[in-house]
Amino acid sequence: MRLKDKVAVVTGAASGIGRATAVLFAQEGARVLAVDLKPFEIEGVSGIETLDHDVSAPDAPEAVIGGAIKRFGQLDILMNNAGVSLGAPIEEFPDEYWDRTMAVNVTAHFKLAKAAIPHLKKSSAGRIINVASVMAEGTDYGLAAYCAAKAGVAGLTRNLALELGRYGITANYILPGAIQTGMTVNFDDPKIADIWARKSPLKRLGQPIDIARGALFLASDEGGFVTGHGLNLDGGLMLRV
Ligand SMILES: NC(=O)c1ccc[n+]([C@@H]2O[C@H](COP(=O)([O-])OP(=O)(O)OC[C@H]3O[C@@H](n4cnc5c(N)ncnc54)[C@H](O)[C@@H]3O)[C@@H](O)[C@H]2O)c1
Repeated sequence: MRLKDKVAVVTGAASGIGRATAVLFAQEGARVLAVDLKPFEIEGVSGIETLDHDVSAPDAPEAVIGGAIKRFGQLDILMNNAGVSLGAPIEEFPDEYWDRTMAVNVTAHFKLAKAAIPHLKKSSAGRIINVASVMAEGTDYGLAAYCAAKAGVAGLTRNLALELGRYGITANYILPGAIQTGMTVNFDDPKIADIWARKSPLKRLGQPIDIARGALFLASDEGGFVTGHGLNLDGGLMLRV
């Protein structure tokens, strides 16, 4: 029960990494507001309430952060995880892909974090956990906006850590590697899955629970002296150049 008496918001929680994290946080005693675009349910675990909301909508800070306060009366942990991956070759890259990627993958992180600050200041151990990607540091074909947004998450998080440390709030970001989720449906093709699995020294794809466990460390008392850190959870994917 490492998150007993804590309240967490997890975005992008209908699927993949967000869902696994919402479940793990609740199993560790937190009350969780799980947020995603469309109505969804997470069954079999107590302590989770769901909210369907677009994190990039203008009213998202009020709906999401205000919604958590209305339901639970406090906020201790914000996990900005919702993300999209819209790819195209750079010469044809649609402006709409750029705008949507920035809005969901980095601007929403900023706006929700800003709205959360007054509540995290009241917590005995406020936590911001932003989900970036190994693509914050590397790149791949077609991922101009995704890489720019994820690098932005890293920079934003370092600043949050610097400015909020005086309130006992930590801010860290996670760099997942190749994780089997709704975003990586191409891993359903065994050949593609195998290519990505082989790139990692551990010779397997990551699972959502691998990321959720890292998030739990950052959210819990054990992670209390870690701030401004980018935590690679990639099975060693980024070791080789
Ligand atoms: N899967 C990977 O290999 C991988 C690698 C690195 C980083 N990531 C990051 O991990 C995070 C979670 O992705 P995932 O892999 O679990 O994918 P996923 O598609 O399974 O889950 C992402 C969830 O975010 C939700 N979402 C998207 N836009 C939203 C919005 N505007 N408002 C609210 N919810 C929204 C989706 O509906 C979905 O349920 C993302 O930020 C992604 O960039 C994933």
